[in-house]
Amino acid sequence: MSTIIINGSPKAKHGNTEVIINQFMKDMKVPCEVCYAANKDYRKLAGYLHQSDTVLFVMPLYIHAMPGIVMKLIECMESAPVPGKAMGFIVQSGFMESAQSAYLERYLSTIARDLKYTYLGTVIRGGSAGISMMPESMNKKLFIQLNQLGSYFESNGSFDQKIAKELGKIQALSKGKCFLFEALGKLGLSDGIFWNGMLKNNKAFDKRFDKPFA
Ligand SMILES: Cc1cc2nc3c(=O)[nH]c(=O)nc-3n(C[C@H](O)[C@H](O)[C@H](O)COP(=O)(O)O)c2cc1C
Repeated sequence: MSTIIINGSPKAKHGNTEVIINQFMKDMKVPCEVCYAANKDYRKLAGYLHQSDTVLFVMPLYIHAMPGIVMKLIECMESAPVPGKAMGFIVQSGFMESAQSAYLERYLSTIARDLKYTYLGTVIRGGSAGISMMPESMNKKLFIQLNQLGSYFESNGSFDQKIAKELGKIQALSKGKCFLFEALGKLGLSDGIFWNGMLKNNKAFDKRFDKPFA
């Protein structure tokens, strides 16, 4: 079974999607071919995808939707040339709640079926915005889950449902957690500390309220 993975991040090799793909393939005996939706000739890449048995899109959630480059690529795809081809998705997002990706998931399942591919499902992982910036020790659990998800995928051509469920476990924050995060934010103890640190490192802290398009 041949699988092509599409990295759907506009940041290509420099984003969280790349880290997730690398961890997904880490324990595979034969790693998959990875293609980048960014900076591609969409028609050519869409045609090339027909050569593989399975296409796996790995992408970030951008404004509750798929990145425009993924949509462009999908719009160039034609129906599967022969029966038996499969398509799956991994969507990772910044906010913790996997419910944020629910609308996209429904859309992706429809697209796969419209294109006459077997839909393998969509694995959702929230709280992924800092992955590429965090030390490896903070990502340990996630990386183990991704290693296992990838090696299961290589053996079975599908997602391990137990791991998929675990990855998307935080569906929505409870009222208590929302209250807690709000209180921490008011005390200046939210994850703003981390993002403000990034702004300072990039000499952009003073510009954080700029509205260039207003
Ligand atoms: C333009 C833009 C829009 C985003 N929209 C959302 C969103 O609607 N919901 C969310 O949870 N995260 C959102 N994020 C956060 C990204 O999904 C998250 O940082 C992801 O890990 C980025 O992956 P990448 O580095 O591979 O591009 C957005 C990020 C950007 C840059």
